Amino acid sequence: MFSHERIIIRRGPESELPIIVAVHSTALGTALGGCRLKAYPQWQDGLADALRLSAAMTDKCALAGLPNGGGKTVIALPTGATPDPGLRVAALHDAGSVIEELGGHYATGPDVGTGPDDMVTIGHRTNHVFCRPAGAGGSGDSSPGTAAGTVAALRAVCRARFGSADPAGRSFAVVGLGRVGGRVARLLAESGAKLVVADVDPAKRSLADELGATWATPEEAQTAAVDVLVPAALGGLLTPTSVAALRCAAVAGPANNQLDTPATADLLHDRGILWAPDYVVSAGGVISATAVELHHESPQQVTARLDAIADTLTEVFASAQRDGITPSAAATAEARRRLVSRGQAG
Ligand code: PHE
Repeated sequence: MFSHERIIIRRGPESELPIIVAVHSTALGTALGGCRLKAYPQWQDGLADALRLSAAMTDKCALAGLPNGGGKTVIALPTGATPDPGLRVAALHDAGSVIEELGGHYATGPDVGTGPDDMVTIGHRTNHVFCRPAGAGGSGDSSPGTAAGTVAALRAVCRARFGSADPAGRSFAVVGLGRVGGRVARLLAESGAKLVVADVDPAKRSLADELGATWATPEEAQTAAVDVLVPAALGGLLTPTSVAALRCAAVAGPANNQLDTPATADLLHDRGILWAPDYVVSAGGVISATAVELHHESPQQVTARLDAIADTLTEVFASAQRDGITPSAAATAEARRRLVSRGQAG
């Protein structure tokens, strides 16, 4: 079903790169979603990513209780190319110009391949950008918020699956030690969890050593016999084949779009593996950025909002159990309910 409100695809006048901005929904308010700068075999693959990711942002914002819709920006680089700094600036300016044309229907933030400094560059063309560094008037890096929200979600998962929310003594396999995954691993280690960690970058092994974690390849970590698998890298890792090989009791992590297709949620359910919908788990970044920049909330208020991710997830698990459906179906149904009632009210 075609459900996006507006999709802009443009050859950037400054960079000549494909600039894709997908606005999925503004039913609840300004659409939010980060700017992804990533290489794709074909620019059409970047479009497919933008379409999926922007739709997930609609559900993410709805379930986070934010008065916002979902969108996403993708700057599609050719495979193998690392843009020189000049091209990178040009591409971010092009993205900023498209966002400015949308006149406030969509605002961006950091995502895979971009960070706070890139938001300053986008900000040369538009004000509809979150997470500029504090010195430039923004809330800075959103990954601490995403990581804190993920740990709150993991506690809810442990409570639902094992009867106790405490991560101490439980085993987790964290796949991806980037800005979010690295922090999640650290927070889990600090609470006494046993860790297997993996990253495609061998330099991340030093973090494993520092945390006393077992270092593994991403493939090994994904099939490790642990309590919880925590996907914290790129999406699409849950497929019929990979689900058949899992040896964990639950899967919950901040990577966006973990399922290859929605039907894979049923396969997880059939295997008795509890899957926490990624768009609930990963909402901490957008929650903290908007709490600070739009609502001027205190650190305590932000922490309370991040902790509330656990309550949302607990409700999702409870309604899934009550209705005999997957957490994925329960979360989607709840998002639809919020979109319809709020959309009509507003
Ligand atoms: N990358 C963030 C996400 O996927 C997007 C974002 C963060 C948007 C912060 C705005 C502000 O949720």
